[in-house]
Amino acid sequence: MSIARSAAWKQLAAHARAIRKCQLRDLLPDRARARAMRAEHDGVYLDYSRQLATPETLDLLLTLARTARLGEKIEALYVGVRINVTEDRSVLHHALRAAEDERIEVDGADVVKEVHAVQRAVRRFVERVRGGDFLGATGKRLTNVVAIGIGGSYLGPEFVAESLATDPECRAAAAGRTLRFLANVDPIDAARALAGLEPERTLAVIISKTFTTAETMLNARVVRAWLQRHLGKKATAQHMVAVSTNAGDVEQFGLDPHNMFGFWDWVGGRYSVCSAVGLVPLALHYGFAPLARFLDGARSMDRHFFNAAYARNLPVLLGLFGVWNSSFLGFPARALLPYCQALHRFAAHVQQLDMESNGKGVSLRGRKLPFAAGEIDFGEPGTNGQHSFYQLLHQGRAVPADFIGFCRSQQPLEVESHPVSNHDELMANFFAQPDALACGRTAEECAAAGIPSRLIPHKVFPGNRPSNVLLLPVLDPYTTGQLLALYEHRTAVQGFIWEVNSFDQMGVELGKTLALCVREQLARSRSEPGARLKGFNPATAVLLKRYLS
Ligand code: F6P
Repeated sequence: MSIARSAAWKQLAAHARAIRKCQLRDLLPDRARARAMRAEHDGVYLDYSRQLATPETLDLLLTLARTARLGEKIEALYVGVRINVTEDRSVLHHALRAAEDERIEVDGADVVKEVHAVQRAVRRFVERVRGGDFLGATGKRLTNVVAIGIGGSYLGPEFVAESLATDPECRAAAAGRTLRFLANVDPIDAARALAGLEPERTLAVIISKTFTTAETMLNARVVRAWLQRHLGKKATAQHMVAVSTNAGDVEQFGLDPHNMFGFWDWVGGRYSVCSAVGLVPLALHYGFAPLARFLDGARSMDRHFFNAAYARNLPVLLGLFGVWNSSFLGFPARALLPYCQALHRFAAHVQQLDMESNGKGVSLRGRKLPFAAGEIDFGEPGTNGQHSFYQLLHQGRAVPADFIGFCRSQQPLEVESHPVSNHDELMANFFAQPDALACGRTAEECAAAGIPSRLIPHKVFPGNRPSNVLLLPVLDPYTTGQLLALYEHRTAVQGFIWEVNSFDQMGVELGKTLALCVREQLARSRSEPGARLKGFNPATAVLLKRYLS
């Protein structure tokens, strides 16, 4: 039976009808409610009192969680049950940051042991490269890293790379080094990634779980050709390493199998940042120590997720209110608004994490879902977003938002005679925006403020727009790890409630298959100009003719 037919779901649907009549501006002054609607773990403070909800809503959501057997599903995730049923795989990204004395077994093998063996290999390799023991073909130190990968083999590592780039310790550790990402098959991306780099000092890391992804393999060949053009054929093994689960193809590509860092089929691409996928490029750039702290932060959030009571469990709360907003209040989108420029790639990472995971049309058992699962995730750092799409958030469509802010800046700055520090200036906006969205401004308030009556309709803010506020101490490797794990688990919680498989991504395949047919046609038409276009509808045929002419 679908969860949507359960009594718990129906009760929530009825409750949503009542809640729609409530106004956040009336709910927010209630101190007891404010006290009830906050939670904290290890410095991560969540205020969810601006959700269109009352403590009763949480009780009903917790009943829904019990009905959906959330606890059993989280336990199954933890111990490695093959919950990715379509691919018959365990889902164990938390094992990637488990402490060495933890034990998680899959088919009789302790995966934590394997994880730590790879971490040690990454650390040794990184120390050799950074220490000048592992040199390029001409004897120069390898100070530039080009990470070639796409999707989960790119977005998570890039978000973390950017998050750490302005952390003072990480910045010092990366002095004199360059880290670039090459993801898009668009040749412009290759031009940008390689611009100004000296091949003699460049190490390429090919990151691909399958080692068959078309874009990554073509880009890997582009970089291999670039290296060989400058350094000769033998340079490949010295200037290219790989992170993959496919040792055979890595070797066939011409890489030294000793310089391949493995991971496992129980790590999904978008959940792989804590594996060698993230560790190799990031530790080459920043050294291993910050990455160890990053893993510690993720582990702290994992332990909280697997152990804390659900009413105080940050990922569970975020996930339950995600379901509430999406399935019961009908909000199809969600904005991620970090007030921290270093998190400017966080939304892009969460977009893949969440939309590839939960953007599904059928349940685990293959039945069509009677509701829309998944949300449209987007975001930009504040205050930039305020000067862009916030107009729509305030007076156009309502979009639930997560505001993420920090008590201290990575880069404190004060300008003489300005009344507050630059970080306070940023945070003044951070604290104001959730209340502006929640409380809005009435016509009466506009009139009282002396706004001319013809402008009043334009200056009214409807309010009642929900948000979460997350406040952390400072963005550093540890809190970056916490944020990563918090959002990974939020995604899983929503998938568990909706009963979808959050760990496969079959929806990306059809477009890839059709692209193969187009590619064949392009190859044929380029070698035999005027060749007949076969197998395309009239609209696509016209487009192709125009492209080829
Ligand atoms: O876009 C589909 C996808 O399979 C993602 O899930 C994955 O992260 C990405 O492609 C890259 O895959 P790979 O690491 O195998 O190259």
